[in-house]
Amino acid sequence: MKKVNIAIDGPAGAGKSTIARTVSETLGFIYLDTGAMYRAVALKAIRQGINTRDLNALSELVKNIDVRIFYAANEQRVLLDNEDVTCEIRTPEISIAASDVAAVPEVRIKMVELQRDIAKANDVVMDGRDIGSYVLPDADVKIYLTATVEARALRRFNEQADKGIKAASIEEVMKDIEYRDRNDSTREFAPLVKAGDAVEIDTTHMSVREVVNKIISLIKEQST
Ligand code: CDP
Ligand code: CDP
Repeated sequence: MKKVNIAIDGPAGAGKSTIARTVSETLGFIYLDTGAMYRAVALKAIRQGINTRDLNALSELVKNIDVRIFYAANEQRVLLDNEDVTCEIRTPEISIAASDVAAVPEVRIKMVELQRDIAKANDVVMDGRDIGSYVLPDADVKIYLTATVEARALRRFNEQADKGIKAASIEEVMKDIEYRDRNDSTREFAPLVKAGDAVEIDTTHMSVREVVNKIISLIKEQST
């Protein structure tokens, strides 16, 4: 039977992962955070001392990379060459490097193949930048989440503080986000873009619960 695929895209801090995770739990679907795959590629590049803007070195690197996803207690884990790197990939340095490596077509082609395989085999809520526009053009429901850059930076800043991570200043967080917004939306291959048939939700003044409820009702409407 054809699996149900929900695509959630948008820039950093728009609320994708929080919302996608809650929606997937509500529906009993798996949740796939595709950003984690680009983060794993970035980690490997950094470990090998590769400049993450060196396109040739990255297209070589990706030929022999093994990125895999599995689920433990319902949580997504990421394997890089058989090593669980789920925690290591969550640093600001890796966020920036992931945005750089994600601009390399060979990297995207390999990661997208994996993402499509997962979508073919599972009911899934998948979040990223190009899910509705490129990875799953036939997704059952496509959502594009936005929020002002100030709101997104503040969310990220608060999140770091909550996790007890020594937080950068709000200005630094905002600079990182702006760098990635620009990088992600101006790359040639599969950029961050709202798919023509995606529903856009500006979450600036919405709570997580409000956004989740709105998406669940859109999914219900779609299936009736
Ligand atoms: O995945 P993405 O970068 O798009 O964002 P996120 O990591 O899910 O959200 C960043 C933070 O914003 C989280 O701590 C969420 O709880 C918070 N958030 C919020 O305060 N209000 C929303 N409407 C959505 C997310
Ligand atoms: O959670 P956050 O929004 O900070 O980032 P992420 O979703 O983990 O993605 C990290 C980086 O990977 C992004 O800045 C994008 O450059 C890239 N990415 C992408 O190009 N395409 C995707 N489908 C997902 C992430």
